[in-house]
Amino acid sequence: MSVLVDDIGELVTNGEGEGPLGLRRDAAIVIDGDRVAWVGARSAAPAADARIDARGATVLPGFVDSHSHLVFAGDRAPEFAARMAGEPYTGGGIRTTVAATREASDEVLRRGAGRLVGEARRQGTTTIEIKSGYGLNVDDEARSLRIAGELTGETTFLGAHVVPAEYAGRADDYVALVAGSMLDGCAPYAKWVDVFCDRGAFDEEQARTVLTAGAKRGLGLRVHANQLEAGPGVRLAVELGAASADHCTHLTDADVDALAGSTTVATLLPGAEFSTRSTYPDARRLIDAGVRVALATDCNPGSSYTSSMPFCIALAVRDMGMTPAEAVRAATAGGADALRRHDIGRLVVGAKADLTVLDAPSHLHLAYRPGVHLIRTVLHDGVLQ
Ligand code: NIG
Ligand code: FE
Repeated sequence: MSVLVDDIGELVTNGEGEGPLGLRRDAAIVIDGDRVAWVGARSAAPAADARIDARGATVLPGFVDSHSHLVFAGDRAPEFAARMAGEPYTGGGIRTTVAATREASDEVLRRGAGRLVGEARRQGTTTIEIKSGYGLNVDDEARSLRIAGELTGETTFLGAHVVPAEYAGRADDYVALVAGSMLDGCAPYAKWVDVFCDRGAFDEEQARTVLTAGAKRGLGLRVHANQLEAGPGVRLAVELGAASADHCTHLTDADVDALAGSTTVATLLPGAEFSTRSTYPDARRLIDAGVRVALATDCNPGSSYTSSMPFCIALAVRDMGMTPAEAVRAATAGGADALRRHDIGRLVVGAKADLTVLDAPSHLHLAYRPGVHLIRTVLHDGVLQ
């Protein structure tokens, strides 16, 4: 079955075309099954079995949200309210969610994560990475990943999120568990391994132990790095060839240089700075240094309870020095790069037919009209959502 998406006023390809978004005007796309089969001028479009009329609006690749924590129970609204009244964010609230998650049935966790994936989908996200990290024992981490795996292929083992209460004062014993039997139980359900390498979580050596153990089991590497302070996380991510260093809020010049000379993507998560009232990462500094950047939501009940990529784009443009085009690219092709995927985040022949039709004449409106639902139509794997 082929579908012609016709009368596209502005098409974001992230391939050939004008500017960083590879823009094309008065364009059309033909989808065959779950793939893009043809891209070109509207006037030259071939016939297809069905037609979607974009009515002169903008079409862009579905957003690639390369960082989320969706498998959890409960929420932490009171913690958010306390922060807005002046309390700092420490990451310690993670243990509150761990207690609620361990108590919850599979069905409650499945429904909660499924609801958030649906929410993201309606806001234009067609690929989402989901981490574990609120189980923090072998069984609860493995079941979190099994549930995540029902919703996405991009699953990440984050057993090293924080040291759970029962291991207080015995962080190295917990790291040995994570790098040993927890990884054994979880690796079959995970594509990636991640570590929170920061103040109050894991230090450089502990993070290295977990990441190298994950790599030995064939998992790709990601690191929560430099969120709370300028620590070793980013340089460790680069040294070990991680696909992504996430947060990158507090960076030294050496961190920026290391990223610039590497294949590690800096994934920026402005929802976290918004919701913890922190300083935003300096995207301009990274881009000007030649670092590849992605934008993601970090959706989780503590530091960033948003599933909205358009919201993150608006923040990145308003407060992080990104142009609208850079932000849209970071939320699509950038996310794909952070997941080392070439079949998503682009609307070029052969790519997956994941796209969004905006209720807007250009991609600028994603930042220009913050908080407004501009997602008119979403196609995932060529199927209307
Ligand atoms: O990416 N920084 C560590 N992990 C999450 C926060 C999780 C939480 O507060 O529950 C983050 O911000
Ligand atoms: Fe996170």
